[in-house]
Amino acid sequence: MRIDIITGVPELLDSPVNHSIIKRARDKGLAEVHIHNLRDHSKDKHKKIDDYAFSGDAGMVLNIQPIDDAIDALTREREYQEIIYTTPDGAPFRQHTANQLSTCENLIFLCGHYKGIDQRVRDHLVTRELSIGDYVMTGGELAAVVMVDCIIRLIPGVLSDETSALTDSFQDGLLAPPVYTRPADYKGWRVPDILLSGNAAEIEKWKFEQSLERTKKLRPDLLHDRP
Ligand code: ADE
Repeated sequence: MRIDIITGVPELLDSPVNHSIIKRARDKGLAEVHIHNLRDHSKDKHKKIDDYAFSGDAGMVLNIQPIDDAIDALTREREYQEIIYTTPDGAPFRQHTANQLSTCENLIFLCGHYKGIDQRVRDHLVTRELSIGDYVMTGGELAAVVMVDCIIRLIPGVLSDETSALTDSFQDGLLAPPVYTRPADYKGWRVPDILLSGNAAEIEKWKFEQSLERTKKLRPDLLHDRP
């Protein structure tokens, strides 16, 4: 998979993209992540990428020209399945969104910044708008990192235990069951006996019941939205 991230603040993406799961996927040759500085595409003599809103509202708006040129340079080279704009008023990014995007070959993320982006970018250039939650961050860079992390860890071979992503919370519409490790008894706080029984079928049943119980208690809304 190849992911291209277009941003006015590339520095914000340096650390996450060069460390963590994203780096591991890159090192294994399973994912490529390329960062593009919007300023490199600006035709303004001062390399400006934003301007005042025609409406007179406070706050700068990202110009369409550098964005159009950055997207054009990429789409000339290869076909992209989605051009995603990160914005708080986008559709909610969920686990099923990550699952679907992890099957794509090429994706572009366009990070919003400042007060917004020229509406014509949204109308004509992007194919999808996604939000990581109902709160407003200064820019879309951290949102893009969150989404890229979620997507990349689902690519087969990225996680050392390939099946582990399948048992994540949300994967089947439920929260994950609790997990325990040694020692079986710590200061009298015991691991549930069932987990020490060696009975695989009973353990699976227990895990499902725990998932259901946890979801009912902590996130009852998920039970209504369950696929
Ligand atoms: N940019 C600013 N806030 C955001 C959010 N919640 N999700 C996606 N992009 C954003």
